Amino acid sequence: MMQENIKLIDLIIELADARIPFASRNPDIDELGKGKSRIILLNKSDLADATWNKAWIDSLEAGGMYVLEVNSKTGAGIRSINGLVQKACGEKIERDRRRGIVNRPVRAMVAGIPNVGKSTFINSFAGRACTKTGNKPGVTRGRQWIRLNSRLELLDTPGILWPKFEDDVVGMHLAFIGSMNDEVMIAEELACDLLDCLQELYPDSVPGRYGISWEERAVHTLEAIARSRGCFLKGESLDLKKASAILLDDFRSGRLGRMTLERP
Ligand code: G4P
Repeated sequence: MMQENIKLIDLIIELADARIPFASRNPDIDELGKGKSRIILLNKSDLADATWNKAWIDSLEAGGMYVLEVNSKTGAGIRSINGLVQKACGEKIERDRRRGIVNRPVRAMVAGIPNVGKSTFINSFAGRACTKTGNKPGVTRGRQWIRLNSRLELLDTPGILWPKFEDDVVGMHLAFIGSMNDEVMIAEELACDLLDCLQELYPDSVPGRYGISWEERAVHTLEAIARSRGCFLKGESLDLKKASAILLDDFRSGRLGRMTLERP
């Protein structure tokens, strides 16, 4: 579907998760988006480390992309997008102008992996002021364009890119942020992997939140979390599944602090 829709657009607005900008992008988009203007939005930037947001922006810009950090939930950063669209599509706008075409709006599509925030972003960006422009000639019935302003139209259906599990680390990072069905994973294993990662990158986070110390093995740290949070099964045995759920939920909602798990 994306391949079909891409023919109709000038610009791809790709959403990545600011906590894992590498794992949350599907490299196939480079092939799909050949010849199109590109913007990358580091979404959920409120959950990521501010210093690393800046570093990722620099790195992606150095690769020729137009980049912004945004929080689609609150709308932070969203207003800067219009200016960036004009920059990213500067060549096209200039080409149109030379051909005597004026005021033809840029047509854009939002794309990203599931759960990265595409719908939240579209709602936030389009706001209530948007009007659907309806079907147009040459456009398959059912496709709707949202007219954002005189210079920009957005396809109302985002393009879904499937995550690419290039290696175990990519899969693990996607699981940490909740982009994989938790039911297919062993919670305790995932929690222990996350603890190893946090001990290396954010060593103060877990001791600070649960009032415990790092143990030599992650599973023992998880046991300490279970004790500190009163996760017990019958008798004295610890409920590690519950402790794992608490840890993952605290991480995903930012209660362990703002964190970026990948470095540019
Ligand atoms: P999708 O269309 O790409 O699949 O993603 P969607 O918009 O449904 O967003 C997935 C989840 O991410 C939602 O949370 C949404 O609120 C959250 N989200 C989107 N953008 C941001 C952001 O910039 N910052 C933060 N902190 N969260 C964001 P949910 O738990 O599924 O729903 P809700 O409880 O928030 O309503």
